[in-house]
Amino acid sequence: DALAGRFPLTRSPRPASDDERAQVLSDLHFGSVFTDHMVHTRWTRGEGWSGHQVMPYGDLALSPAAAVLHYGQEVFEGIKAYRHADGSVWTFRPRYNAARLKVSARRLALPELAEEDVVASLVDLVRADEAWVPSGEGESLYLRPFMFASEAFLGVHAADVVDYYVIASPSGAYFTHGLTPISIWVTQDYHRAGRGGTGFAKTGGNYASSLLPQQEAAAKGCDQVCFLDDVTQTNLEELGGMNVMVVDADGTVRTPRLTGTILEGGTRSAIIRLLTDAGRRVVEETISLDGLVQDIRSGKVTEVFACGTAAVVVPLGRLMGRDFDVAITGSEVTREIHDRLTGIQYGRLEDPYGWMY
Ligand code: COI
Repeated sequence: DALAGRFPLTRSPRPASDDERAQVLSDLHFGSVFTDHMVHTRWTRGEGWSGHQVMPYGDLALSPAAAVLHYGQEVFEGIKAYRHADGSVWTFRPRYNAARLKVSARRLALPELAEEDVVASLVDLVRADEAWVPSGEGESLYLRPFMFASEAFLGVHAADVVDYYVIASPSGAYFTHGLTPISIWVTQDYHRAGRGGTGFAKTGGNYASSLLPQQEAAAKGCDQVCFLDDVTQTNLEELGGMNVMVVDADGTVRTPRLTGTILEGGTRSAIIRLLTDAGRRVVEETISLDGLVQDIRSGKVTEVFACGTAAVVVPLGRLMGRDFDVAITGSEVTREIHDRLTGIQYGRLEDPYGWMY
């Protein structure tokens, strides 16, 4: 592999503890345990990136004045590595994530890390910690690349010192009940992003701003929050951490079009491709909440589902808001697309797209 070795493994790797690992892998949740190593490289204005390495996983030493802690100059990615039946390990479209990290970095005035370096950082970390890639149903090694302003400076400016890390977390399902439908609270009080803002970038602040509305959703007894656009306050955007798709009775699949306030999900784009190639009509368009609620009631919409790297594909069973509460019973297309996508990711189905790396 031409990219392997750009991030050399430290000469003092963390000793593997086989017993601890076996115990962790036998009971997996999402994002709570981490592997033995992590990737690190640092950028300074003038010098660029240097010091690529795979080092032992551990706490960071950070100045309390590090700009990220004050002004949130940070971007991240989410990508999974899957173990196939023959024992080999594959990531899903790493170049997609590498390209998106660049787009996000530009918006947050962070330096760009070359796509090859991002892919190499994933390859080198997965090679170092390959034993941590689980093999159970729905399990994967969740990779979290992230970049942040580490310069100790309280002036509001684009930082002159930036760190890039990748950590890895052996993970089970994000939603612990698999394909059991989830319930959604549509918030009409909060918005995730505004025009000209950072909605399309994968930056921590977008997720921070989703937490209070997510608490509101939980208080209403719902699993996830759904956001509307901030201009008309009537159109569907996305959930707290995943995109949303609607299936019509005639088989058409619709999803909110990208307006700059929605994150362009890798799972979203893969599903659009898979559905189109399966002969379905897929439309990226404005979807109004009122229209959607009406269409669910009348039976014109039969399924709604959420999709994302962490969440994969999960049906929505109930949509609630200030003055409506509707049940959605269908999940046939949702299951079909879930099985097709995960079939490719886990190597059960052929990958005609060259997505697996
Ligand atoms: C992912 O799906 O990978 C994300 O980054 C979203 C986050 C809510 C876990």
